[in-house]
Amino acid sequence: MRDFEYYAPTRIVFGRDKEALTGALLKRVGAKRAIVVYGGGSVSRSGLLERVGRSLSDAGIEYQLFGGARPNPTLKHAEEGARIAIEFGADASLAVGGGSAIDTAKAIAHGAANPDAALWDIWTAKTTLSKSLPVGVVLTIPAAGSEMSDSAVLTNTDSGVKKGLSTEFNRPRFAVLNPALASTLPKRQIACGVSDILMHTLDRYFTHTKGNPLTDEFAEALLRVTMDAGAKTYINPNDYDAISDLTWCSSVSHNGLTGLGAATDFVPHKLGHELSARYDVPHGESLTCIWGAWAMYVYMEEPERFAKFARNVFGIQEDDARAAAVAGIDAMVAFFRSLDMPVSLPELGVGEISDTDISLLAENSQRNSGEGFGSFKRIYQKDAAAIYAAASGCGARPRAK
Ligand code: NZQ
Ligand code: ZN
Repeated sequence: MRDFEYYAPTRIVFGRDKEALTGALLKRVGAKRAIVVYGGGSVSRSGLLERVGRSLSDAGIEYQLFGGARPNPTLKHAEEGARIAIEFGADASLAVGGGSAIDTAKAIAHGAANPDAALWDIWTAKTTLSKSLPVGVVLTIPAAGSEMSDSAVLTNTDSGVKKGLSTEFNRPRFAVLNPALASTLPKRQIACGVSDILMHTLDRYFTHTKGNPLTDEFAEALLRVTMDAGAKTYINPNDYDAISDLTWCSSVSHNGLTGLGAATDFVPHKLGHELSARYDVPHGESLTCIWGAWAMYVYMEEPERFAKFARNVFGIQEDDARAAAVAGIDAMVAFFRSLDMPVSLPELGVGEISDTDISLLAENSQRNSGEGFGSFKRIYQKDAAAIYAAASGCGARPRAK
């Protein structure tokens, strides 16, 4: 086990109708005037936004609505939100929605607290963040895990870069998790969410760090419970018990617990961000279309780790480590398929992805994630290109040389 520091300070308020407590929770973090950030309108249609507004008013908190956060939220939109928050004199930022609204709310909090700094300079660490506004969350979709994470992701549409910022200031002060709010989710969003939850733990699990049994068992349990609850929720979005499990898995999968004390990899996420930046595909799809190709490319770095995954997560009975590893990868891909998720680039439905596109994606991955990124196997431009090519179906299932 490696040395670590663990700090996950988000107060979780879990259960039916708990959004009624939002005003009191904001008051508790000292807020008097909040900017309320939401997405494309699902929270207005469901009546949630009105209920949250009532809760804020009852607690004596004034608020300014700011909608329009879209999947793969943009820097421009967050900058506009920060301007509005400054004009309004906001002292807190509240997200009502999923990862896109939450990440926008986090960015607005940073921008509003640092009016003299350009938001992209903060994002690219040219300006060091030393203060922000408190962020609160009312979650509507189990998926990104942003409700407890220390990260936020924005797309700069001018440069075509989708980039995450990790900082303790991104940890929300509280998150209201009412699983029943997810019952209005379209099936595609449920599937994307389940896949993203799995990926936050998969991207931590494949590590060469040894002697970390508690973290490994947390991770394996989370993967099993997410698949079980995810499959049930996909069939019946009104299965409250299943969505409850899924919702808690969403938060725990990305709050650091399932990779504690180990080197983390996150290559599929980074390769996926390039796909979202270029084709604006939903985050979950950007991950499942690449994961199988990545796994086949890297498993020979330590087949025993993939075999452990196959045995403990899927119950695969196979003595040979390599055979078990491949069976585990196949089982994971089959699960994504069972949710009708794309498991190759052509299935993304963005038209033909040419060799030139693949070269550009690979080049950009180095520019945005560093030359030789990841830890299970360091990925250089030629590796990224090989993985994208394998995910395209040409030369499927390659192995790293
Ligand atoms: O925009 P509205 O109208 O609200 O509709 C949303 C959106 O179309 C809809 N939706 C959400 N809750 C709903 C609902 N529709 C009906 N009923 C509900 N209860 O679902 C669609 C997707 O929403 P979004 O917020 O984009 O989903 P998600 O939570 O998957 O967030 C994705 C974003 O989070 C980033 C992703 O890159 C992507 O930009 N991530 C953030 C992370 C973080 N901050 O820690 C980590 C992740 O790895 C991820 O990168
Ligand atoms: Zn993710």
